[in-house]
Formats: sequence, structure tokens, C-alpha cells
Amino acid sequence: MKTKLFGALVFSSLIAGQALAGDKIVGGVKVTDLKEAPYMVSLSGVCGGSIIAKNWVLTAAHCAGYFSQAKGGILNLKDQGVSYRVKRVIKHPEYNRNTFSHDFALVELTESIDFRTTGLKAVKLATPKFASEGNQAPGVDATVYGFGDIAENRDNYTKDLNKVIVPIVSHEEANRAESYDGAIDDTMIPAGYAAGGKDSCQGDSGGPLVVFDGRNDAVQIGVVSWGEGCAGANKYGVYSNVSGAYEWIKTTTGAL
Ligand code: ARG
Repeated sequence: MKTKLFGALVFSSLIAGQALAGDKIVGGVKVTDLKEAPYMVSLSGVCGGSIIAKNWVLTAAHCAGYFSQAKGGILNLKDQGVSYRVKRVIKHPEYNRNTFSHDFALVELTESIDFRTTGLKAVKLATPKFASEGNQAPGVDATVYGFGDIAENRDNYTKDLNKVIVPIVSHEEANRAESYDGAIDDTMIPAGYAAGGKDSCQGDSGGPLVVFDGRNDAVQIGVVSWGEGCAGANKYGVYSNVSGAYEWIKTTTGAL
């Protein structure tokens, strides 16, 4: 069964009356320097997002409705950081909540981020040209960032920003019967290891999957979208393909 994890998480949190449960980025390491991902934000502690312009954040459409603020400049969800209120959330017009196709949302902030005083930064986005040049081809190592929860052991619920490196996987591989059996379409990028062990997970949704360009700048190629469980064999992480939504992002924000 494909995990429509987010809804289940909100549901169980209502039942339990406590923080959302889930796994943090699996098999990763803690980010220790804010300068490493100055574009990373937490959306009300429930989803990740990335700053793409002074008043715009990119996240997953399936996160829409669950947050009201974007907080940046933090390495742990408990850090104060810099917070911005959400003015509106625009889901991709072709987002399909059953298939998770086009799982993108643009979040407009009520106020512009001052990049000079806050240390926050916008991340570069993968263009169709960047994608066509082999920068997100199967085998390329990408890095995913997220503030994780731990479902199995709430005593270890750290809320730290974690990252993990996952190689891009071909559609052919991820569409095999043992994997996702045809569920991966062109709006998605699968990434991870056939053996499992390293992956994004619940609570990481909406966060950025990046590669580094010739100038060593992060370029966001994916948005954490879904997966069956986390880090299991053949069950890759699935990311929304940013390059395919580039024109929509550009036109909608008028900001790239
Ligand atoms: N849908 C999840 C969320 O809302 C993200 C799941 C990512 N799963 C994975 N195995 N990579 O946080």
C-alpha cells in the first residue's frame, strides 16, 4: 500500500494529542552548520520547505492545509530562528492526491525575507536545461534535508535537521514489480538504495532534494513527496521533479 503518510500522521496525532510521529531522515547525519542549507525552512513543524525567492517557499501539495508559518535559520525545531507568516498556498493545478503526481505547492509569505540580516538564502531551482544535461540522471548522488520525527522511540525525538545522500534511481528500476510497479510517473524522481537503509521519511515531506553544480551551489531537483514505509529494500524515496514544474513556478511567483 502506498503510504498516504501525512494524513495518517495528523490523524494519529489528533488521537494521541501529541506531536506528530514518524521517522526522521533515515541513515543520515545531523546538519551542524546553518550555512549549509540556508534555504531550509520548517512549515509549522509538520513539513519541510525551501526558500526560492524573498517571499516564496516551495513545498509539497500534500502538506497544504497543515501549516501557517515558515521558520528558517534553525538546526532544531525548538530553535527560535526567523519566522514568517503564510499569506497563501498555491497547489500545482495538476496535483493528484491519489497518485501524488505534481506534488508541489508554492507558499507566499506575508513579508519579504531580508537575506542580508537573516543569513537566509534562496536555493537555485533545476531548470529543464539543467535536468537535460544529466545533472539528475540515474546514479547521481543527491542530498535530502529534513527535520525528523522518530515514531518507534519518542524518547529519541530530536527534531534536529538531518541530511542523507541518496542516488537517483531510474524510472525503469523504480517501476519494477518489486518496487513501485508502475506508480512512478515523469513528475517524480525516485532516489535511494535497492538495499534500503537511507531515505527521507514522514515529517520530511516538502523538503528539498539537492545536487551541487559546478560552482558548488545547491540546486534543488526534488521535493520530498512519498514512499512506501521508509528505507526498505526496493522502496525508494519519491520526490517531485522540480525541473518539470519550473515554468509553473516561474510564472506563478513571477520571482525567478
Ligand atoms: N509523505 C511523507 C511526509 O508527509 C514523506 C514520505 C517520504 N518517504 C520516503 N520513504 N522517502 O512527510
